Amino acid sequence: MKRTEIAQILKDPSLDQKVHVKGWVRAFRSNRFIALNDGSSMATIQVVVDFEQFPEELIRQISFHACLSITGTLVESQGKGQTVEILAEEIEVLGSTDLDKYPLQPKKQSMEYLREKAHFRMRTNTFSAVFRIRHGLAYAVHKYYNDNGYYYLHTPIITGSDAEGAGEMFRVTTFEANQAPTLEDGSVDYKQDFFGKPTNLTVSGQLQAEIGALALGKVYTFGPTFRAENSNTSRHLAEFWMIEPEVAFYDIQDDMDLAEDFVKYLINYTLEHYGPELEFLDKRIQDMEKNMKKEERRPMGLLETLRFVVADDFARITYSEAVDLLRSSKPYKKNKFQYPVEWGKDLQAEHERWLVEKKFKKPVIVRDYPKDIKAFYMRMNDDGKTVAAMDVLFPGIGEVIGGSQREERLDVLTSRMAEMDIPEEELSWYLDLRKFGGAPHAGFGLGFERMVQFVTGMGNIRDVIAFPRTPGNATF
Ligand code: 4AD
Ligand code: MG
Repeated sequence: MKRTEIAQILKDPSLDQKVHVKGWVRAFRSNRFIALNDGSSMATIQVVVDFEQFPEELIRQISFHACLSITGTLVESQGKGQTVEILAEEIEVLGSTDLDKYPLQPKKQSMEYLREKAHFRMRTNTFSAVFRIRHGLAYAVHKYYNDNGYYYLHTPIITGSDAEGAGEMFRVTTFEANQAPTLEDGSVDYKQDFFGKPTNLTVSGQLQAEIGALALGKVYTFGPTFRAENSNTSRHLAEFWMIEPEVAFYDIQDDMDLAEDFVKYLINYTLEHYGPELEFLDKRIQDMEKNMKKEERRPMGLLETLRFVVADDFARITYSEAVDLLRSSKPYKKNKFQYPVEWGKDLQAEHERWLVEKKFKKPVIVRDYPKDIKAFYMRMNDDGKTVAAMDVLFPGIGEVIGGSQREERLDVLTSRMAEMDIPEEELSWYLDLRKFGGAPHAGFGLGFERMVQFVTGMGNIRDVIAFPRTPGNATF
């Protein structure tokens, strides 16, 4: 008999018919009631087992997370909590689980512990909800850009340039660690390496996306990016996914409008299509916060936060306004900020969170940052001190998007590169884009995991990517 997915049965139950299902046992009560889940949705279907009809040996194998194949009759349920159930007629154990040795137990387990068991954690309700939503968000990204006439550009993962000038890159080489050929002065002879030059894993697809934008008009990238920054925080990964739209003829205002419209679309999409998952995650947070003091709890529930963010315009301020606001804030006056607030210094997470969570109580877009704390490609403003950069800051997360209008004026760009010691030879192709048919253009990067974090309410970024890469961790 053909197998039917559980989601399908629950959506369109044909009563008193034979059904065949396969899945994993989420619970087995009173040697009689199996809650079976096959991954097709969050829901389980109840399977009723008359244990006298089956060998004891088989019943004993029906334990937590054992995998079963079941044939039976679908009937209206007599019990509470479900409308239909399957009366089991044939049960086959496809994979048993020795519960004494199984790393997962049918009880609450800490996120830290589950991270070490990443090969099993997707079987929990929490992680299955998170990864369903992650999929939905990825799909919504492509849908948004496709529906709006953008082209998906695959930018390279191995690159010879450091787009952000951050210098925190993973080297790609075929040399053995201690046997790289050297030049007379002792430095490594990269001419003999695979690509004939030093190469790294990319930190951003932006510079190549600019090539696309100046030909196809509107492009976006969506791929993995890599940063070897040693930040052990709940917001940083060494390998994360980024979405980078790049649009010809856009200025910084258009860029901010696009960013706001895009993230609101993603949230609306999730609200529309992932209701059960969001409700589950919302309740999970409420349960977690039950024993917390009021000031430690989130100001709003998950669903409430998501609905709130899409309903209202984001606040928009300049960096200079942000600094003024921060310097007249209570925590500043009471010396509560760990990092200094001074014009010219970068805003730290604590400052961003104050702006979003205390001052505006909604997402904030900060623009026009001092040129010295931003990348070389950002367009110089007329004041000569700031650049047309913008960051989108979210409650509970901080920066989710960083973007800018790009410097399209060749002379300004080359003098910025000189100031920052970026050799022109390395980026001759990038400069060519300004020499031949150049155009104003703008774009941004959305950190995909930070977005998934926001939508799912997960506290740690390691819990929204299946196999996190962080300093010291690359097991799975
Ligand atoms: O602000 P960033 O560094 O911007 C760029 O890379 C630009 N080239 C984007 C562009 O204009 N096309 O990174 C963009 C976003 C950040 O706002 C943040 O959400 C995320 O990427 N991000 C990280 N996410 C997880 N782990 C990290 N280590 C991250 N670093 C940045
Ligand atoms: Mg940034």
